[in-house]
Amino acid sequence: MRDGSDRFLKACRRECVDATPVWFMRQAGRYMKAYWTYRDRYSFLDMVKTPEISTAITMQPVNAYDVDAAIIFQDLLPILESMGLDLDYVKGEGPVIHNPIRTVVDIDALIVRPAEEAMPYASDAIRMAVSELNGRVPLIGFAGAPFTLVCYAVEGGSSRNYEIAKGLMYGEPAQWHRLMDMMATAIGDYLIAQVRAGAGVLQVFDSWVGALSPADYREYVLPHSQKAIAIAKEEVDVPLIHFGTGTSGILELLKEAGGDVIGVDWRIDIDVAWRRLGDDVGVQGNLDPVVLFAPFEEIERQTGRILDSVKGKSGHIFNLGHGILQRTPVENVRRLVDFVHEYTAR
Ligand code: CP3
Repeated sequence: MRDGSDRFLKACRRECVDATPVWFMRQAGRYMKAYWTYRDRYSFLDMVKTPEISTAITMQPVNAYDVDAAIIFQDLLPILESMGLDLDYVKGEGPVIHNPIRTVVDIDALIVRPAEEAMPYASDAIRMAVSELNGRVPLIGFAGAPFTLVCYAVEGGSSRNYEIAKGLMYGEPAQWHRLMDMMATAIGDYLIAQVRAGAGVLQVFDSWVGALSPADYREYVLPHSQKAIAIAKEEVDVPLIHFGTGTSGILELLKEAGGDVIGVDWRIDIDVAWRRLGDDVGVQGNLDPVVLFAPFEEIERQTGRILDSVKGKSGHIFNLGHGILQRTPVENVRRLVDFVHEYTAR
């Protein structure tokens, strides 16, 4: 056991901690040299599907910095592959789905199988990583939220305005709801499987939800996010972090959909966000990932401002407002982790 190994779990439950816990979304990845020892030799999907490699990469940031949580090295999108979509990661383009969902027939063809059977490599990787972590820090399991996953599945890749996905949403609401409901079922089951394999905390990523108006979120998305989270929560008893970006207009609705901790980006002051959310949830965030490119004095100043504004309130988990960027200087990441711990030591 490492000193403070339980501070992340305690913060998720809004209990007192010896220092504010810190971890980073995308903390394992291309900005670390060690990542390339694998990535130079294997495709991203092969890495995700090989439990030994997934475990090794999950451990890289835990070994390099004093982070308070590990997150399993997997991705949001392989669940779509398990449902019958043809997923590929194309260099320079990001994820591509070669047979995107465009018609009722495409929705009919989707398969929702038990996650243990559909993505056995994810459960295997979690079991292996938990054993490797040996209680040092908890392991986070994760999944995409229905909206973000359906956007990828319908658009066939990343998108600026989600015109095709929203076209389905507005144009064929019954089909939209049917698709979102299937997605929610698959996500809920995948979250359960990850906890059964040993994940101690869950995070649901609704990365693209900021594209919606509050009214559209409530009507077309909220019931499905709520369902995915409720399926997991009924079955397994671990804290769940519900994260989105660009959510200033829908914070209260995100909370309504579920989660013990709400993740916020940097486009809103964290104290303002927390006041709106209320004291019965924790808050995770909210440093702009680009601040990590600044001189360390500026990183300290901006981090200090976030920490001062939450005033050591129980339930704060320090993180960036979105994932670490590829060219982030590693040294700044290491120093930031230590700074957060030292600055908040009680
Ligand atoms: O956080 C971690 O360290 C765990 C692993 C993790 C990855 N992706 C690894 C990854 C997690 C939690 C994710 C989540 C994820 N994946 C999200 C939600 C978070 C966010 O950024 O909003 C999304 C939208 C995806 C989908 C995805 N995967 C995209 C858009 C891309 C390509 C863009 C990019 O950054 O390259 C990926 C690929 C991906 N996922 C990589 C990694 C390390 C890079 C793959 C490579 O080596 O080429």
